[in-house]
Amino acid sequence: MRKERQIELLDRVGASGERFAGLHVPATMVNETSCYTDPANLEAEQRALFRGGPVFFALSCELRQPGAYQAATFGGVPLLVVRQGDGSLRAMVNICRHRGAPLVPPMSTGHRPAAISCPYHAWTYELDGRLRARPMAGDAFSDVGVSCDLPARAVAEKYGMIFVRADDAEPIDVDGFLSGAEDDLGAFDLDGYVHLETRENTWDMNWKLILDTFTESYHIRTLHKDSIAPAFNSDSVIYEGFGRHLMSIGLRKNVLDELAKPREEWSIIPYGTMQYFLVPNALVVHQLDHVEVWRVEPIDVNHTRTRTSMYAPGPEVTEKAERYFIKNLDLLLSVTGTEDFPMMEQIQANMESGAIDRLVYGKNEAPLIHFHTAINEAVAAATPS
Ligand code: FES
Ligand SMILES: [Fe+2]
Repeated sequence: MRKERQIELLDRVGASGERFAGLHVPATMVNETSCYTDPANLEAEQRALFRGGPVFFALSCELRQPGAYQAATFGGVPLLVVRQGDGSLRAMVNICRHRGAPLVPPMSTGHRPAAISCPYHAWTYELDGRLRARPMAGDAFSDVGVSCDLPARAVAEKYGMIFVRADDAEPIDVDGFLSGAEDDLGAFDLDGYVHLETRENTWDMNWKLILDTFTESYHIRTLHKDSIAPAFNSDSVIYEGFGRHLMSIGLRKNVLDELAKPREEWSIIPYGTMQYFLVPNALVVHQLDHVEVWRVEPIDVNHTRTRTSMYAPGPEVTEKAERYFIKNLDLLLSVTGTEDFPMMEQIQANMESGAIDRLVYGKNEAPLIHFHTAINEAVAAATPS
């Protein structure tokens, strides 16, 4: 993060007064519990956000070598992104043109050095999705009059991040999509990171509850009293919106110590967990010496798949450093998996009881308000009146 930007953010903290109240937003928000429980709402979200709009796909470092591929599903559409021989990326539908088999397993990552071969009858595709051959078929398909190339989808790469759109191949304007978040994200030099590990889980809750977890620090004092509460501030986060996306910086308790130093020496990096919510599906987190990414994929209205990835600054990561970073990943998944997400699963069950129809988000939960306002607006815009 740029130096002036760090100083500007620390200025906000310094001026925020008692319990960081100056970081609050002016108004609370009331939200309907149905946004977490109504399948029709999920269908609208899938259409408007996951299928129709650009979505975060991966960091560039996950697909470095020609032939490196990764598969993921957005709004029900299975996609495959492959690094080409010339260094560019191609996105295509991960469905064989013969009889619809997945070309690579859904949610998989791997390497196909020369071609992609279907596991069902071995139709073979070039890395860019053009059909190369139908082995052992003779003239069995000689009169097929339709294209058997894989349907292309939009993919764009910038700032060390990859974005796709599941619905069509209309080019993606990355800066337009990021709406200003690119200034901070670009400064993190994500292209220089190395991917260490990704872990997958499924949870009995709506996809938004996964991301809600990280929006605010208000719960730290109570929910995390036995883990991270001694080190982290629970009063407020630094918040900023970028179009539908947002930044939420969680602060360490000792952040005000930095303000005692000469201003030109200020750095927020040791005190801030810098979280960028790339709505709908990703959370990019910069912590002191590494980067974490959460990706969410709704399975249905109350089940969500998550992938949590750990990256370290490159170009080389020693074995000792890797062990340290993986311990960080263990800790992250332990705290979220034993403290945050079990609570969120109970919240999902409570909302499904139908006994309450509204929730309230506080002025100290500004990122939560931004996140849900952005999603509600996108859903409303995509819902025929
Ligand atoms: S479904 Fe792919 S080769 Fe038959
Ligand atoms: Fe938490």
